[in-house]
Amino acid sequence: MTKLNTTVKIGSLELKNPVMTASGTFGYGLEFEEYLDLNSLGDIVVKGLSLKPQKGNKPQRLVEVTGGIINAIGLQNIGVEVFINEKLPKLKKFKTPVIANIYGTCAEEYIAVAAALANTAVAAVEVNISCPNVKKGGIQFASDKVVINEIITGIKKVFDRPVIIKLSPNTGNIEDIARACEEYGADAVSAINTLIGMAIDIEKREPVLSNIYGGLSGPAIKPVALAMVHKVSKAVNIPVIGIGGIMNEKDALEFLIAGATAIQVGSANFVDPAAAGNVVKGINKYMKANKIYEVKKIIKTLKY
Ligand SMILES: Cc1cc2nc3c(=O)[nH]c(=O)nc-3n(C[C@H](O)[C@H](O)[C@H](O)COP(=O)(O)O)c2cc1C
Repeated sequence: MTKLNTTVKIGSLELKNPVMTASGTFGYGLEFEEYLDLNSLGDIVVKGLSLKPQKGNKPQRLVEVTGGIINAIGLQNIGVEVFINEKLPKLKKFKTPVIANIYGTCAEEYIAVAAALANTAVAAVEVNISCPNVKKGGIQFASDKVVINEIITGIKKVFDRPVIIKLSPNTGNIEDIARACEEYGADAVSAINTLIGMAIDIEKREPVLSNIYGGLSGPAIKPVALAMVHKVSKAVNIPVIGIGGIMNEKDALEFLIAGATAIQVGSANFVDPAAAGNVVKGINKYMKANKIYEVKKIIKTLKY
């Protein structure tokens, strides 16, 4: 039987298949070892890392809504040094490359986190720009091209592997920001991060989340994410990683057809911790059933 070729490339990084995990929904990877074969995944993207450990927001930080969840975790994490010293050595026993999702409160902090990862086994960085810039009165990095340029240029100087910029759906024009990322030297973009959402307790007439607003994810955002991935993939020549409400292989295939080179499984991991592994198996099954022996023959093949 003909062997399937499921490899894809994100900049210089070759993945054995296009299925990755979305940051913040898969811990540091190791927590999922008992539920699926981590070696079967194209890539593991870990929880967003900052320079110093972060406690995150006060509870309540998560609420289930129709078709998804709203989270205001507040980017809680163990900090880049603890990640390098305690998590990364354990992740090295797997063949799957690890991508570090990183963030900061100012451009310098982003660059410092990337610099800390420079001499480690991390295969790439995914830069979360859906955060407030403390030095600029809390404006989101995601809509500020000047700072995005500073972040990409700075990271490129200290980190020699692929730099992926994770785009926010909460800016005016996602295609415009994607084009800017390409121009400033990003190796790929991923899209989308969560959409701003809220939930209200009608008895108390209070917001459910301590932070009032949070990020909506899950099946509810899939059509929005798919449209944005399609638009972004037409706007840039670098690879686009599709994210948003992917629950199964059918969802994943829609994103690949729309123009994504790879995809990330996010909130689905909370419903079924083996979801990402099942998406890998499902794509293989679809390829065999349709006699498609190269995954690249699916990517960006939307007819219209
Ligand atoms: C609980 C939770 C935590 C998240 N933490 C991060 C994070 O640290 N960094 C980041 O870039 N995205 C984070 N995200 C966003 C996801 O990676 C993903 O972009 C989003 O959830 C949409 O995909 P989904 O609908 O498949 O969940 C988080 C999402 C959830 C639900």
